Amino acid sequence: MLPTITWDNDRVILIDQRLLPAEEVYLECLDHIQVAEAIEQMAIRGAPAIGVAAAYGVALGVQKMEESGDWDGEFDRILTRLENTRPTARNLFWALERMKQTFDNHKHLALLQLKETMIQKAISIDKEDVDTNKKIGYWGRELIQDGQNILTHCNAGALATAGYGTALGVIRAAFEQGKKIRVFADETRPLLQGARLTCWELNKDDVPVVLITDNMAGHLMKKGQISAVITGADRIAQNGDTANKIGTYSVAVLAKEHGLPFYVAAPLNTIDFSLTDGDAIPIEERNQEEVKQLAGQCITVPDIEIHNPAFDVTPAKYITAIITEKGIAKPPFELNLASFKD
Ligand code: MRU
Repeated sequence: MLPTITWDNDRVILIDQRLLPAEEVYLECLDHIQVAEAIEQMAIRGAPAIGVAAAYGVALGVQKMEESGDWDGEFDRILTRLENTRPTARNLFWALERMKQTFDNHKHLALLQLKETMIQKAISIDKEDVDTNKKIGYWGRELIQDGQNILTHCNAGALATAGYGTALGVIRAAFEQGKKIRVFADETRPLLQGARLTCWELNKDDVPVVLITDNMAGHLMKKGQISAVITGADRIAQNGDTANKIGTYSVAVLAKEHGLPFYVAAPLNTIDFSLTDGDAIPIEERNQEEVKQLAGQCITVPDIEIHNPAFDVTPAKYITAIITEKGIAKPPFELNLASFKD
């Protein structure tokens, strides 16, 4: 399996996803600020992977604490720095809440023990994510039939998680069952996670994949060349409204128009049960240069006005089912997602 992120001797090592597929370079983070920068600059990305990275970031931050220091104050500063990286992925805040709980429950210990406890907690969040994705794959594979063509958007694969993937986890699990499937990967402008990352990791695993540009999906659906759509999620509201990579909403509307199932695969820690619907999901607005440039080259007039929302919200009415580690939720999502809550 791909080593998206690992803890190694008081360092966090992650594959630099900005350079893929051209170069496989591993980035070393020695403190929580370097982890926060890696998240902001998308050296690591994908909601579950961001959560795992943040957990390791907290563990790194705690390693720098000293006996005589203000532990609570330092901990708050570490948390705030990591919270202020990317606003949309629920998994980031979920992981930080878990790390805070662990810190609060163990801060009475000797500093050395507290440090080790924080490392172990981050490692367990990392391992749990892989386990969760395998369960999502197990439930979701039954929705995919032999011979189908599956469209996906962005990268919800091993790279976007601690391993195996959510949407691509379902595809992997169906493929491992021996189903002959073909994946259509949207390139996913502006940062090309589909072209660069989904194609790269499916190719490595010999899963047949065809790359298309973002504006081709409707044409292929109309021609009967797509059987189903499956994507990941960054944040899901109580009612099933789902924030995911910009462009997901258009694909979901197209799927409905063509009578195709549209599935979302996500761990339960992506669900924000505090939000009744998707209107309150914070949507990250990113740097204009991401739209202005392609592979470092300016592709437009230099002073053009640009809008660059990183995510959109797909209303629940377009979603056929949400695949979680506890099973498949169908509408009404308010009821059926709530039944999976701890
Ligand atoms: O901006 P990114 O690359 O972090 O966006 C990633 C996505 O939108 C993924 O589909 C989502 O995080 C789910 S990853 C399992």
